[in-house]
Amino acid sequence: MISSRNFLSGFLKSLVIIFVLFGSGFCLETDTINAGVVLKDSDTIVSSREIFTLGFFSPNGTTRRYLGIWYHVSKDTVAWVANRDRPLNDSSGSFSISADGNIVIMNGNKEIIWSSNVTSNSTTSGRNTTAQLLDSGNLVLRDIAGGPNLWESHWYPTNTFLPSMRIFHNTRTGQRVSINSWKSPQDPDYGNYSSGLYVVGIPQIYIWYNDRPIWRSGPWNGRVLTGVTSMYSVYVDGFSVATEDDGTVVFTRAFRQKALMTNYINTEGVLVEAAWDEQKKDWSPTWQAPIDDCDFYNNCGPFGICYANDRPKCSCLKGYEPKNKEEWDRGNWSGGCVKRTPLQCDRDNNATDKHKMDKFSKIALVKVPDFMQWTTGIETECEGMCLRNCSCIAYAYELGIGCMFWSGSLTDIQKFSRDAGSEFFVRVAYSELDEKKDKKVIIIACVVASSVAMCICLFLSWRWMSKRRGQPVTLEYEGGDVGQLDSSETVLRNAMDKVNIEELPLYSFEMVENATNNFDMANKLGMGGFGPVFKGKLANGKEIAVKRLSTESGQGLEEFMNEVVVISKLQHRNLVRLLGCCVEKGEKMLVYEYMQNRSLDVFLFDRSQNILDWRKRFNIIEGIGRGLLYLHRDSRLRIIHRDLKPSNILLDEDWYPKISDFGMARIFGGNQNQADTGRVVGTYGYMAPEYAMGGRFSEKSDVFSFGVLVLEIISGRKNTSFYNDELSLGLLGYSWKLWNEYNTLDMIDQRISSPSSEAEIMRCIHIGLLCVQEFPVNRPSISTVLSMLSSEIFDLPVPEHPGFTDRWNRSYVGSSSSKTSESANQVTVTALEGR
Ligand SMILES: *[C@@H]1O[C@H](CO)[C@@H](O)[C@H](O)[C@H]1NC(C)=O
Ligand SMILES: *[C@@H]1O[C@H](CO)[C@@H](O)[C@H](O)[C@H]1NC(C)=O
Ligand SMILES: *[C@@H]1O[C@H](CO)[C@@H](O)[C@H](O)[C@H]1NC(C)=O
Ligand SMILES: *[C@@H]1O[C@H](CO)[C@@H](O)[C@H](O)[C@H]1NC(C)=O
Ligand SMILES: *[C@@H]1O[C@H](CO)[C@@H](O)[C@H](O)[C@H]1NC(C)=O
Ligand SMILES: *[C@@H]1O[C@H](CO)[C@@H](O)[C@H](O)[C@H]1NC(C)=O
Ligand SMILES: *[C@@H]1O[C@H](CO)[C@@H](O)[C@H](O)[C@H]1NC(C)=O
Ligand SMILES: *[C@@H]1O[C@H](CO)[C@@H](O)[C@H](O)[C@H]1NC(C)=O
Ligand SMILES: *[C@@H]1O[C@H](CO)[C@@H](O)[C@H](O)[C@H]1NC(C)=O
Ligand SMILES: *[C@@H]1O[C@H](CO)[C@@H](O)[C@H](O)[C@H]1NC(C)=O
Ligand SMILES: *[C@@H]1O[C@H](CO)[C@@H](O)[C@H](O)[C@H]1NC(C)=O
Ligand SMILES: *[C@@H]1O[C@H](CO)[C@@H](O)[C@H](O)[C@H]1NC(C)=O
Repeated sequence: MISSRNFLSGFLKSLVIIFVLFGSGFCLETDTINAGVVLKDSDTIVSSREIFTLGFFSPNGTTRRYLGIWYHVSKDTVAWVANRDRPLNDSSGSFSISADGNIVIMNGNKEIIWSSNVTSNSTTSGRNTTAQLLDSGNLVLRDIAGGPNLWESHWYPTNTFLPSMRIFHNTRTGQRVSINSWKSPQDPDYGNYSSGLYVVGIPQIYIWYNDRPIWRSGPWNGRVLTGVTSMYSVYVDGFSVATEDDGTVVFTRAFRQKALMTNYINTEGVLVEAAWDEQKKDWSPTWQAPIDDCDFYNNCGPFGICYANDRPKCSCLKGYEPKNKEEWDRGNWSGGCVKRTPLQCDRDNNATDKHKMDKFSKIALVKVPDFMQWTTGIETECEGMCLRNCSCIAYAYELGIGCMFWSGSLTDIQKFSRDAGSEFFVRVAYSELDEKKDKKVIIIACVVASSVAMCICLFLSWRWMSKRRGQPVTLEYEGGDVGQLDSSETVLRNAMDKVNIEELPLYSFEMVENATNNFDMANKLGMGGFGPVFKGKLANGKEIAVKRLSTESGQGLEEFMNEVVVISKLQHRNLVRLLGCCVEKGEKMLVYEYMQNRSLDVFLFDRSQNILDWRKRFNIIEGIGRGLLYLHRDSRLRIIHRDLKPSNILLDEDWYPKISDFGMARIFGGNQNQADTGRVVGTYGYMAPEYAMGGRFSEKSDVFSFGVLVLEIISGRKNTSFYNDELSLGLLGYSWKLWNEYNTLDMIDQRISSPSSEAEIMRCIHIGLLCVQEFPVNRPSISTVLSMLSSEIFDLPVPEHPGFTDRWNRSYVGSSSSKTSESANQVTVTALEGR
């Protein structure tokens, strides 16, 4: 049955070829049509590298005929249609170059139903032209005598945006070229959705339903579209927005990937990017927009902000409240929000608080609203510019754009959880931000003031104090023994000055002592970076972990202070949370939330534990990645952890990982990218080579440790557990060896072997190997790692040699005291050569 069908199709194919070769005198191989040649309905031409095919087609399930260009690998993926609104009713149509030099489609009665419409030039009537299908999917019409192309199909895109197509908006003439969806999958006629560039000052990409926007990319900052998360993580390349002399702003894209890519707007108004999967013989989507509710234009109404991770997703900007509370609570956000307190400019001239300046409330990672105005400017100027202009209600700064300002309404604001967007500043009345302190003042005023003068006096002194930022208010409040602090505690106080200690609750020594049952050894959880960790239970039943600085040794103070400074400023679900501290009676202790399920090493390396299945492990890998991303990129500070290892990964009751132990973390300044240290601290086995050997650390040294962690999580083995087997290769050498032997499956922990997730596990091993590459520049950044984990980045680069294995191997070869046999040694050497 099968073979006869194969035979039949083979026979038909050869018939077609024979027919094409001899029947019409027209060769399949060609990509060119010359004057005088007529292509019949069944004929096709193919671009020179067989990427695109031109010919007549019928959409799935119809009989109407259209002339189109489709991907050679996939006949159903039509990238361009000529006569999209004038189909042929039967297969009697033909395609040729007419006497006037135009490309034309004629029906059976030789009537022209479609033409490239190049106006004939009086001086050269009766042109001799030729049409060629290029590998870019572009059909071009040229004069044989030379000169610029007379006509290109790329000038008239249909629903697919091909590389080298120009999507543009001429800001002077208003002319735009966009892509436009098909009416339905069966009908290539003009649909209601389109997507293209629209420029009001700053270029943005939109999707429209008729003329109403339904999605917006956020402004182009010269490098990426700031509202498109994936652009921040993919190796962005090939996107370009250029302004030409005549005011035309042009968006182009060149795909640098090896895989065949397509980018089109489907009949539901979704912009899809897909890559051709040679194995599956099908397209697999690599990106699309909109995906979630928050992507939809103005989903939360004016002055509303949409955050997909919030429930409900919509909230009002600071200083604004729902316009219609009832509708809003019901989930009808279309009404948006309105201002709660008048801004300074709007207040009555005789209002008592007229002089109080408005403030700005900052929101990070925001797709900034539509309809911005902008000026070039530096970051520090934007705030003042906005403050001075009464109609300015918000501003943002973006490198590559300058200052952006908004007036009137704030439309279509979206918050991201990572990577994309800008810092966005909303103007609010002073009272909106000062609410808490203001109440305090009022209370003080009421209690203390018997006279107005007294009140003013108090107020002024409070103002003066609050100006002196960073006062350790609570410590002073501690009372009389400030003077008795010993020198180390003075250092500590200085460190505390850097911390906003008002936000860090103090626990009394009795409370902690009580909670841990007087630091009972039975409650000891282990040793942290600078001292023992105890489990405790507060009077209210809340469980805590207490890390106590060892008092005897006199060491660890630096780590302790470092931890306070670093972690008190951080808040992320993948970082352990500091609840407070206790500085009393010469004791220094930090109080953390208690983690139900201890640390990762317990479950990973104890072979009797069989609780971490692959799903959990993958979530742990991803969670650590997110925590690290927050440290490196998302928090206001840039922090290098420097001591990432399984025992510093705590697990909560849902097995979500939390990074802990910031005793060695370093805060990096604005433009600092790496630092050198004389004192190398960290744990051997997790330290990147450039750090362990040269004391040079950067974000990429954390990525290295992360890579070791990933490989350990997958293999369930510590680096050191390789000491006596596997040719003493160590985990990295062992993984590298298996990788080069195409044997990586062998390293997967027996406890998680599940064929269904094999591909994902292999991908993670690949990513792990990318992270542990010897040279920091080769290692991906943690945000790229996350995109790789989520498969946003489709093609993974081939890893280079991991750190340590090579060096180790050389010293191994030179060592005569090697325990393994010579032959085994040979195997190692060749295996480690790499590919
Ligand atoms: C063609 O249409 C049929 C029925 O509508 C559908 O089952 C099939 O998947 C379609 N084929 C393609 C390639 O879209
Ligand atoms: C196809 O048929 C319809 C109705 O029969 C007619 O209106 C239309 O002109 C025909 N199209 C062509 C290209 O002949
Ligand atoms: C060519 O011009 C004719 C007449 O002006 C018009 O009806 C037709 O739509 C044009 N075709 C194209 C492809 O622009
Ligand atoms: C017509 O031909 C002349 C000479 O080749 C050229 O300069 C001119 O641009 C052409 N006009 C059009 C509309 O193609
Ligand atoms: C067009 O050019 C080709 C090749 O130069 C030539 O063979 C052909 O006769 C020309 N046709 C006309 C109509 O000039
Ligand atoms: C396109 O929009 C028009 C006007 O809103 C509507 O009448 C028509 O049904 C829509 N067409 C499709 C295919 O959705
Ligand atoms: C949503 O609220 C607006 C007023 O804010 C109202 O006009 C509209 O009808 C409501 N829509 C629905 C679906 O309830
Ligand atoms: C503000 O003061 C002026 C003169 O002092 C007075 O005429 C005006 O009514 C006052 N406005 C309000 C809103 O109290
Ligand atoms: C104030 O802002 C508005 C809107 O942003 C702008 O049109 C106007 O030119 C600005 N005025 C000044 C003096 O900058
Ligand atoms: C300590 O615990 C005892 C009883 O367990 C209780 O009476 C006392 O108030 C607690 N002290 C503090 C400071 O919580
Ligand atoms: C991990 O946490 C879960 C949920 O709290 C708990 O049931 C389980 O016993 C914990 N496992 C261990 C080993 O502590
Ligand atoms: C892993 O262990 C091996 C052998 O114990 C050691 O030589 C190697 O340096 C370790 N790897 C790392 C990354 O420290």
